[in-house]
Amino acid sequence: MVFRSHFTLLILSIAITIGNVSTSSLWNSNKNTFLNFTQLSGRYNFWTEEHTVTTDDGYILTVFRMRSKDCFAFKKYPVLLIHGLFQSADTWLDAGPDAGLAYLIANECYDLWVGNQRGNYYARKHVTLNPDRDPIFWKFSIDQMGIYDLPAMVDYILKNTKKDKLSYVGFSQAVGTCLIMCSERSGYCDKVNILIALAPSSRITNMKSVVLRTVFDKFNKLKDVLTSIGVYEVFALGEPVQALVSLLFKSDIFAWVTSSTGLGLFDSPNPGSIDSKTLQQIATHTPSGTSTHTLAQYGQSLETDNFQKFDYGKKLNIETYGTDQAPIYNLSATTAPVVVLYGNNDHVDYIEDVLWMVKQLPNVLEVREIADPLWNHFDMVYSQNIKNLSFPIVSEYLLKYSTA
Ligand SMILES: *[C@@H]1O[C@H](CO)[C@@H](O)[C@H](O)[C@H]1NC(C)=O
Ligand SMILES: *[C@@H]1O[C@H](CO)[C@@H](O)[C@H](O)[C@H]1NC(C)=O
Ligand SMILES: *[C@@H]1O[C@H](CO)[C@@H](O)[C@H](O)[C@H]1NC(C)=O
Repeated sequence: MVFRSHFTLLILSIAITIGNVSTSSLWNSNKNTFLNFTQLSGRYNFWTEEHTVTTDDGYILTVFRMRSKDCFAFKKYPVLLIHGLFQSADTWLDAGPDAGLAYLIANECYDLWVGNQRGNYYARKHVTLNPDRDPIFWKFSIDQMGIYDLPAMVDYILKNTKKDKLSYVGFSQAVGTCLIMCSERSGYCDKVNILIALAPSSRITNMKSVVLRTVFDKFNKLKDVLTSIGVYEVFALGEPVQALVSLLFKSDIFAWVTSSTGLGLFDSPNPGSIDSKTLQQIATHTPSGTSTHTLAQYGQSLETDNFQKFDYGKKLNIETYGTDQAPIYNLSATTAPVVVLYGNNDHVDYIEDVLWMVKQLPNVLEVREIADPLWNHFDMVYSQNIKNLSFPIVSEYLLKYSTA
């Protein structure tokens, strides 16, 4: 069986960053390239512990706890940081110590926990299932990340820190999964002090990114074919697509691709915002692996005006949910206070969909546009300007909710 897809959708991975490339120092060697989260953060002034959290349905997730060596006391509540689609905990380090949100938050003496959602290379384990041999391991989408992964991480962190709440910072998909948790797991939203929603993704009806629309749509249309030929895991680290992308980032071809193709295949461009070192880091960490079902669910989302569960088709929906339609998530159950940060130039989670989400949420404190008209989706995690433009807002709210 072919467990991993070998599609030449390499463009997908390259394009994540293409809009933001500054090619000036592309060939600078980068020693940090092959280090894992613990090693990378360890190069700077941080203690990092590796924890493993087991979900109710048996998935084993690595969660990193990262604290600054300069801090002798920590803020009242722990912070949980969660990545988006195709990403991992490493995402939060990719922009380097002056811009990566994990570094910036830990530097302000928060007890920082950086999680992983099932399927990526830090969360590709199960108590009984083998991801290389058991297709059923890959039978998940963002539904399960919200229903099982987040609650398990939240419980683990609160138990370890003896706190009753934590602050949650999520990028894109990680906001959607938090809304799912609040909708489906009663009581868990009360454990979220504040939800800081960076370029939030819930429904994606108006997504502009042509590449992502195409990929999601293809996976939705082809999911039965793909799984029948054994393609359950997609865009895993180390598979040909990723290896090629990584190589491209180090070669002339990459300069050619970035200068000659239409920029912003994935997103609208913000030239110079993401530096070349970050690009190289992204290339070795992304895509980090997910399931065919996850991409198919996004494909389904393109066709509805709602934020809803995986649609199995009438017959299986009745078996699974007891209704012939896939159930819609209850966004009014997100009772935690929410702060939304978005970019005017985000072509992935488009402003109309962000505002649609805001309208359903009962407790939104503020909706803030980042003060750079070209700020796009991936700037939120990879831009060198995070420290100036988005972090001050994140920091303000974390502080406000760490004493309350
Ligand atoms: C990171 O690398 C170190 C050193 O090789 C290793 O001990 C550790 O288990 C790795 N952590 C993860 C989560 O892979
Ligand atoms: C949605 O959640 C809210 C808040 O928990 C609750 O009052 C409401 O009944 C729920 N709606 C549905 C349709 O379940
Ligand atoms: C950040 O802000 C400072 C002070 O306003 C400015 O000097 C600096 O150039 C800014 N840095 C970036 C990367 O925008």
